Amino acid sequence: MYLSVYYKRFTFVLILAVLFLLLTACQKNAFPIDNEQLSEEERLVIRFSHVVGENTPKGLAARKFAELINERSNGHVEVQVFPNGFLYKDGEEMDALLNGDIQMIAPATSKVTSLVPEWSVIDLPFAFSTYEEVHDYIAGPIGQRLISKLDDKGLHTLGIWDNGFKQISNREFPILLPTDLKQLNMRIMPSDILEKQFSILGAVPKKIDFNILFHHLENGDVDGQENTLSNITSKNLHTLQKYLTISNHGYLGYVLLMNDEFWKELPVDIQLLIKETLIEVNQWEWDIAHQINSEKLVELENCECIGIHHLTEQERLIWEEAFEPVFEYYKDRFGAEYIELLP
Ligand code: LMR
Repeated sequence: MYLSVYYKRFTFVLILAVLFLLLTACQKNAFPIDNEQLSEEERLVIRFSHVVGENTPKGLAARKFAELINERSNGHVEVQVFPNGFLYKDGEEMDALLNGDIQMIAPATSKVTSLVPEWSVIDLPFAFSTYEEVHDYIAGPIGQRLISKLDDKGLHTLGIWDNGFKQISNREFPILLPTDLKQLNMRIMPSDILEKQFSILGAVPKKIDFNILFHHLENGDVDGQENTLSNITSKNLHTLQKYLTISNHGYLGYVLLMNDEFWKELPVDIQLLIKETLIEVNQWEWDIAHQINSEKLVELENCECIGIHHLTEQERLIWEEAFEPVFEYYKDRFGAEYIELLP
């Protein structure tokens, strides 16, 4: 009799314990505490590939994003960052993303133009003077239309990261006026508008991957290039160039993209974690991008390793006039509405 009561109590306590364990395991928000013990199946891996160095605005922000996500999910979500085109090069990373071989990239807006050519509005020379103007344009109706065109291609846009405004460098002459570019071979990112921007001035634009640009400049395949000071210095491109024009003629920033199928399959709490973390990281990235590019200008001015010319206001007006046909070219292809809402 005494023994049967004991067994009943024991069974009851056992059932309660099993129920408690089951409930804890099913809790939706519970990230496992100890990532060391997570199996491959329990860990959710996001592979993030990009083509620049780790100490650039994009490289630093990708690493910060990875650290915060890993920490906030207790290692349940692991963001693996592959910099310097180590995994996929410029021309390969978009296909790798669309095929699901990687889950995140942050290509320059100029590079998404091969998928959605309307994005080349951002490449129009002197279209923007400040980062805020770019952010407002992208947050506005045209920017949202551009983003929805990326959605249609199987992508999910998570934000815009800045790099900076592009400057012109070359090994031949100081560039003060548009005519100075005549016959120079200039490296560009793959964008028809960038091609037009140089060809209209009599220069010879050449589309070359970022990771092999140093060698092309070294071999003399190209005389010059346009890029942000962060990109120029992180790859030591200035060491191969004699002249630098601070022209601020074009914006270089990134679209932070995820494979849409992958995004939709993520649990809601992880989507939320990514979105909330990115609100913080995106702002941090903007600040660090502006800071790095300003610091690099001071470094270059002090190094006496390259001749620097700052475009005067008067010179800028001459460049703007020379580029008017590029705007016409864009308008003829994609319609006036993209241009009309430019600042
Ligand atoms: C370039 O190709 O010059 C840039 O897009 C590289 C980058 O990602 O900043």
